[in-house]
Amino acid sequence: MKLVIVGAGSSYTPELIAGVIQHHAQLPFDEICLTDIDARRLEILTGLSERMLAKAGLGVRVHATLERARALEGAHFVNCIIRVGGMEARIQDERIPLRYGIIGQETTGPGGMMKALRTIPVMLDLAHEMERVCPRAWLINYTNPSGIIAEALGKHSRVRCIGLCSGPQEWSKAILTAMGVEPARANVEWVGLNHLGFAIRVWVDGEDATARAIEAVADKWAVDGEWLRALGAIPASYLRNYYHRGLVVEAAQQPGQLTRGERVKEIEAALLEQYADPTLAEKPPLLAQRGGGGYADVACAAMRAIAHNTGERQIVQVLNGGALDDIPADASVEVPCLVDASGAHPLRMGALPLPIRGLVQAVKAYESLTVQAAVEGSRRVALQALMAHPLVPSWEVARPLLDELLEANRRWIPWA
Ligand code: G6P
Repeated sequence: MKLVIVGAGSSYTPELIAGVIQHHAQLPFDEICLTDIDARRLEILTGLSERMLAKAGLGVRVHATLERARALEGAHFVNCIIRVGGMEARIQDERIPLRYGIIGQETTGPGGMMKALRTIPVMLDLAHEMERVCPRAWLINYTNPSGIIAEALGKHSRVRCIGLCSGPQEWSKAILTAMGVEPARANVEWVGLNHLGFAIRVWVDGEDATARAIEAVADKWAVDGEWLRALGAIPASYLRNYYHRGLVVEAAQQPGQLTRGERVKEIEAALLEQYADPTLAEKPPLLAQRGGGGYADVACAAMRAIAHNTGERQIVQVLNGGALDDIPADASVEVPCLVDASGAHPLRMGALPLPIRGLVQAVKAYESLTVQAAVEGSRRVALQALMAHPLVPSWEVARPLLDELLEANRRWIPWA
């Protein structure tokens, strides 16, 4: 089996290689090909990957190439971890909206939209190349905004793909830990969109334990219990950007406060220095300071379920089909799915509870309009997307904000 990593110059690559080593018994890759557009980073990450795999003694061959089409030849699985525009573009996505009093974030709002507009054309190009070179291969995507990208790929390509985020698994686990319940006894019903997900029901030993879960979380996490009780659900941590938007913006605007991208830039520089050390042959502890810990586990779980046709339950991003009543069939959602050799099949979750329905639908409209804007190269549709987003307060803000964002992204968005 051949695994290809697109964007292998990413500082997350050792996370994935460690996962491949850990899960090798059930996922016996014998060849890994790394590809990137940055020769220096590709060389550093190839060296570390080779040392990690050699130390594990699994006999996995490692190749590296700057030519993506060559890398894809004979692929079974393609993991994508690219960042179009690099960390500089992320920092702009975070900084510019803040000047308009709006949270800057790489996966939602105005910042998420710009990341999507930069990334969707590159992802569709990759998908079309896979259709030609390795049409049977699976694209496992972790590139953000991964829910929006899952929708773009589902609507505009024939590639077999699954969108991933480590969040739902991590948060579900954290809820059960707060309750002191073994995962084998429980079932967490997770619904929504990527980074806009909610645990709407928690079952323990076949009984509805949602109220108990809310109390446990209110007690153990630094969140307002009354807020959770009012909501009747446990939201993903990213939901603070919506329900506590004033506090989040105020904190981000404090003098000297770094954005997440600025902090990650520092972490990445230190990581790359460590990765280049020829004596290093494992994932260094510093990598835990990035947010994507647990990514390799969800990626390997998805690949294992496909390779062995297991039909196991995983929370991933797919086109809705009939899973959520209140979302169009061709829009992406993040819900429990059964994953087997033919892909991820969303489980029917019914109607979204009324307290969260409007928010999910509004953000979905923004996401679908963002896909349309990227595919059509349309400033008008991008404006519609921005105005549909619940964090953008008015036309007076949306119009100049979009102009400034597009101007700052000219290098990556040809129609900007
Ligand atoms: C979590 C999220 C990912 C996100 C990452 C950010 O894992 O689920 O979608 O990419 O955190 O990590 P970073 O270190 O880039 O802020």
